[in-house]
Amino acid sequence: MMRHFLQIDGHSTEELCHILDTAESFTSVDDRAVKKVPLLRGKTIVNLFFEPSTRTRTTFELAAKRLSADVLNINIATSATTKGESLLDTLFNLEAMNSDMFIVRHPESGAAEFMSNYVAPHVSIINAGDGRHAHPTQAMLDMFTIRKYAKDFSKIKVAIVGDILHSRVARSQIEALNLLGAREVRVIAPRTLLPANISQLGVEVFQTCKEGLRDVDVIIMLRLQKERMQGGFLPSEHEYFQLYGLTSERLAFAKPDAIVMHPGPINRGVEISSEVADGPQSVILQQVEYGIAVRMAILSIAMGSHDKSDRDI
Ligand code: CP
Repeated sequence: MMRHFLQIDGHSTEELCHILDTAESFTSVDDRAVKKVPLLRGKTIVNLFFEPSTRTRTTFELAAKRLSADVLNINIATSATTKGESLLDTLFNLEAMNSDMFIVRHPESGAAEFMSNYVAPHVSIINAGDGRHAHPTQAMLDMFTIRKYAKDFSKIKVAIVGDILHSRVARSQIEALNLLGAREVRVIAPRTLLPANISQLGVEVFQTCKEGLRDVDVIIMLRLQKERMQGGFLPSEHEYFQLYGLTSERLAFAKPDAIVMHPGPINRGVEISSEVADGPQSVILQQVEYGIAVRMAILSIAMGSHDKSDRDI
């Protein structure tokens, strides 16, 4: 049972499959006239986002509401954080309101794990993205999307393209793909956007799209994460698009039925053309939709652990 969900690393294949299977059972809730199940009735979930978000924050809120929990959205810009309140004091004050779970996004790597060391035994922390470190719920909704379209992980080649160096999403995706037994995981990026330890991550490295996209089943595009870049990693966005932007011509290197994914937000004309982002092979908006069911699964599994076990995984 999992109480916190902080990263993919440390989980077993069975645990990831349990999340995916549970999410599958929640997809039908969206088809009901009343889009709710009573699993988390009476529980309080706090969205605590110290960085901007559109998809993650709203799909967590929807997931919690679909499970009948009460949801608090803390607006950090108008909170006492601006008056110098520390992260832990903010946490303790919100915990004093009998909160059961915190969904945390923070610019510092390790922030969610740090908080998990201080909450009461009946409280869960879910990492919604910490610095460059991890974005495990994004990785799980990406795995759910891949399983929906490509079906069998053992047969698929996946290419992750772009700013691997600054991407918490890429790290979590690579870990999840390897745990789920993907046939091949590739990264395609200029050298300046690859981490120094890339060879230890269980991926094949390519510098050109022509080689890296050849015969892949899944293409995952990444945004240039300028908010985490210090210094010049690229000559210009225009030049980056000329070399690494996903156009219809480059998409043709992949298998004809390859799917195109992107965690969002997308920057059209920088890492992906509108023609591809809005084209028939794009499943970018389906990823967002599946995010609700996957986050429902993670919330319900974590909350279910409160009565049964204090073990963190
Ligand atoms: N994919 C993702 O984390 O998007 P948001 O920043 O909008 O939450």
